[in-house]
Amino acid sequence: MTVRQEAWQRTHNCVELPELVGETVVLNGWVQRRRDHGGLIFVDLRDRSGLVQVVFSPDTAPGCFSRAETIRGEYVLAIRGTIRLRPSGTENPRLKTGTVEVMAQDLWILNTAKTPPFYIEDKVDVDEKVRLRHRYLDLRRPELQRNILLRHRTAKVVRDFLDEHGFLEIETPMLTLSTPEGARDFLVPSRLNPGRFYALPQSPQLFKQLLMVAGMERYFQIVRCFRDEDLRADRQPEFTQIDIEMSFITPEDIQSLMEEMMATVLKRVLNRDITVPFSRISYQEAMERYGSDKPDLRFDLPLVDATPAFEGTNIRVFEQVLKKGGCIRGLKAPNCADFTRREIDELTEVVTQLGAKGLAWIALEAQGKVRSPLAKVLTEKELDKLKELFTAQDGDLLLLVAAEEYIAAMAMGQLRLYLGHKLDLVDENSLAFAWVTDFPLFEWSQEENRYVAMHHPFTSPVNEDLSLLDTDPGKVRAKAYDLVLNGVEIGGGSIRIHKREVQERVFRALGLTAAEAKQKFGFLLEAFEYGTPPHGGIAFGFDRLIMLLAKEDSIRDVIAFPKTASGTCLLTGAPGPVEPKQLADINIKIPIEAGIEKSVKPR
Ligand code: AMO
Repeated sequence: MTVRQEAWQRTHNCVELPELVGETVVLNGWVQRRRDHGGLIFVDLRDRSGLVQVVFSPDTAPGCFSRAETIRGEYVLAIRGTIRLRPSGTENPRLKTGTVEVMAQDLWILNTAKTPPFYIEDKVDVDEKVRLRHRYLDLRRPELQRNILLRHRTAKVVRDFLDEHGFLEIETPMLTLSTPEGARDFLVPSRLNPGRFYALPQSPQLFKQLLMVAGMERYFQIVRCFRDEDLRADRQPEFTQIDIEMSFITPEDIQSLMEEMMATVLKRVLNRDITVPFSRISYQEAMERYGSDKPDLRFDLPLVDATPAFEGTNIRVFEQVLKKGGCIRGLKAPNCADFTRREIDELTEVVTQLGAKGLAWIALEAQGKVRSPLAKVLTEKELDKLKELFTAQDGDLLLLVAAEEYIAAMAMGQLRLYLGHKLDLVDENSLAFAWVTDFPLFEWSQEENRYVAMHHPFTSPVNEDLSLLDTDPGKVRAKAYDLVLNGVEIGGGSIRIHKREVQERVFRALGLTAAEAKQKFGFLLEAFEYGTPPHGGIAFGFDRLIMLLAKEDSIRDVIAFPKTASGTCLLTGAPGPVEPKQLADINIKIPIEAGIEKSVKPR
């Protein structure tokens, strides 16, 4: 049965029109702009596909013309008209439809609109709060439309790719028991079970493993995850993962399949070819060479271990740090010996923000002249050794931080990024993928005074290190890998533990008693006893991936309805107050001063 089309309903999209000169079409869309000019009215009509110029003339359609005079920006219109080539000299090469225009014959004003609080166009200089408050208008902007389209296409390609490779898309619960992924949980009180709470999933980690126990062999899901953590440009409290798990595989199997998936996405979505396999770098090398476990490999600028130059040094600050087991990390800024004090102060600020006490610098000026706050105390031998370690030449600026290993690495890693951008070493068009491998299984948490899992507690230790689990947990390596793109961690995964005994030992190393482990993860330990296959997987931060493909700086720009840095939705006002009755139903009492009074205030 064909559905009858109303007269005002579109026959075409704006962007199709250059091919249709001479034809009569009906368009539906929004008014981008109205201009009155030489007795004619010009309206730029916008639909999702683009813009086209519509002309109202008092001669050809007098009735329409007078109604067109009432049109304002963002009115919703239906227009019937004939496509014609624009008069020579009036073409607009910046517009896809710039060779043609529509001579209006009929006009339906489907709705009027208030003047929007900002222009519906790219590069609008408007506070993000205003954009988020009126997100439905913000989303009309071409940039966001492009991003949402890119997101849709990528999800589609990923689904198709995984389907073609035998994966099943399986949903897992949103109301569940907390899985430790390192963040705080969002809790949901259970009305039917007073005093009990569900947690929203930080990831479907345990369920995807249970699906492997269940014999599903290849699972995926494009799934929402929830983490109550401090927010940043690349973090949202709810975000989307491409979540994947497979049985009977090795890390190399997963990595090469994921490389193929990325290459397919880039080809099918952006028509870009990328080189596989991606480079691989161990966690230790990444930290030593780039001061980061997610190195931006679009440029080199490696860190240098300058410690050997200062063995037995008389420079007090260095001597003290070395005595305490610290190190001296350096960076060579090539041809930057002429940096001003102000520029050096800016560099210093970068490292001090990350906990370094200061930044020492040595400018190697022409003809062996040295400008440096250390000039008086630096021996010739130290300087020679430094030049050798840095392969430095006249004109270079050497930068040094003395601190404990971790702080020195982080501070110099950040300085490296800063310099990479300052010195224009970053090709914004390149896509530098890399696997970071050989992570430690645990890291020491000062705060909790115990080991915590570097990924999550279900990650398998490397076989040869199993014996260290009980004796020296800090030395145990994990079968874990992260995928990094342009300095952003876009994915992480591992081979999992699939034996009860090993899982119990890992829980023990994490400080869980047998009783606690049983209470929290008894269901998993029990499942491991029913023929669990070896398995592993990965999850990608879908929003982050889209952010990078769209060349945006914030994941908020690729999420239709994102939250602010303080976790609020400016559009709906969430989180909001609830009625006392709702709280009573779920047995929750909130002390007045703790929020009710405050939260009932209108936003
Ligand atoms: P992980 O915790 O590393 O691993 O998360 C996987 C990827 O999700 C993205 N990501 C985020 N994106 C936006 N906002 C956030 N708050 C946020 N947190 C994480 C990152 C990260 O690489 N279950 C494991 C995966 C596995 O082992 O298979 C997991 O969730 O890009």
